[in-house]
Amino acid sequence: KTGLVTLDPGFVNTAACSSEITYIDGDAGILRYRGYPIEQLAERSTFIEVSYLLIYGELPSEAQLNDFTTKISRHTLLHEDLKRFFDGFPRDAHPMPVLSSAVSALSTFYPETLKPVTEERTEIATIRLLAKLPTIAAYAYKKSVGQPFLYPDNSLGLVENFLRMTFGFPAEPYDVDPALARALDLLFILHADHEQNCSTSTVRLVGSSEANLFASISAGINALFGPLHGGANSAVLEMLEGIRDSGGDVKSFVNKVKNKEDGVKLMGFGHRVYKNYDPRAAIIKKTADEILGKLGGDDSLLDIAKQLEEHALADDYFVQRKLYPNVDFYTGLIYRAMGFPTKFFTVLFALGRLPGWIAHWREMTNDPATKIGRPRQVYIGPKERDYVAMDAR
Ligand code: SDX
Repeated sequence: KTGLVTLDPGFVNTAACSSEITYIDGDAGILRYRGYPIEQLAERSTFIEVSYLLIYGELPSEAQLNDFTTKISRHTLLHEDLKRFFDGFPRDAHPMPVLSSAVSALSTFYPETLKPVTEERTEIATIRLLAKLPTIAAYAYKKSVGQPFLYPDNSLGLVENFLRMTFGFPAEPYDVDPALARALDLLFILHADHEQNCSTSTVRLVGSSEANLFASISAGINALFGPLHGGANSAVLEMLEGIRDSGGDVKSFVNKVKNKEDGVKLMGFGHRVYKNYDPRAAIIKKTADEILGKLGGDDSLLDIAKQLEEHALADDYFVQRKLYPNVDFYTGLIYRAMGFPTKFFTVLFALGRLPGWIAHWREMTNDPATKIGRPRQVYIGPKERDYVAMDAR
């Protein structure tokens, strides 16, 4: 980049690792989990079935799915000492560092995960993470609103249990709205994996040192927190509210982006891989009207989002840079309609991405050939030089 060295194109395009889990064609806008098109999984599968598919490589039989579901339901409780962690966090703490701290702390409650990796230890750590992350996320929400925590109800499915622990109260029964549960289940499916994105590569890189699964997932959660990655869904809502609160003038906002005023970006647009419409965004947009209609979403923000998309897709600045809506563009509107505060949107991204992170960690652990290994660099610093004494500097 400085003209000192010219990068061999092959070097720049060297794949980080090989994997059998997810296939993306960024130009054609294709996404498949273990060979199954995302469109078919979104329409016909469930989040827990997709989690099984990503982690074990095949769609489960009915018996396998029941066994997987039962195992997870037996591990949804947190250790009472881990629950006390939440007393220590500030009430206005952002939930993502709360999530990564609690997940990292899981390895202190299950020390067996720290010893050399075995199939059996990996299996129980997998089940504990899938079962406990929704509980940790719900407790982070309850802490932020000063409400009592609800114990899991294992007669409910994974998503329903999470919704009840989040929005329910000990003083009265809480019936999970099936439309709400189905919408969240769909969004979790769409977020479940995405090849070597920043957070998944982080999980693989940390895990390549044989760090335990809890520590690796905690690192992934921290990577996802970044506003250019998982933090974008919250940033989209803040952007839409900003446009609304300044009079709804979409055109002048688009011009600010094109003029790069104050580094403002069209959040929820662009992608490192998709240089076409993100297939997940297409599915979410298609259902956004339906879901927001059922949940009573804020139509004014949806209208602004649609106007933004319309302007951008007709403007050479975005078309030339191949900037299309990504998975985050419409998601935040749906999360808001579900009743989640903006700062919890990235937590929901983490809940969806968890099976993908676990699948990649297991793949890398089981097959060292798929390890990212130790990345190398192109040195572009100063050439060799001699030490300079202080009085000569
Ligand atoms: C996710 O990798 C994954 O798979 C991630 C993810 C997953 O499932 O894990 O898909 C989830 O992270 C989706 C992305 C969420 N982030 C955002 O929506 C934030 C806004 N997007 C940008 O930050 C950006 O688009 C990136 C980082 C996502 C991708 O950047 P690129 O494709 O590498 O593009 P770039 O940064 O090299 O920019 C190329 C040009 C620049 O302009 P010029 O220098 O040519 O003038 O495009 C411009 C950029 O300024 N640009 C944008 C823009 N994104 C890129 N301009 C305005 N708004 C934007 N969103």
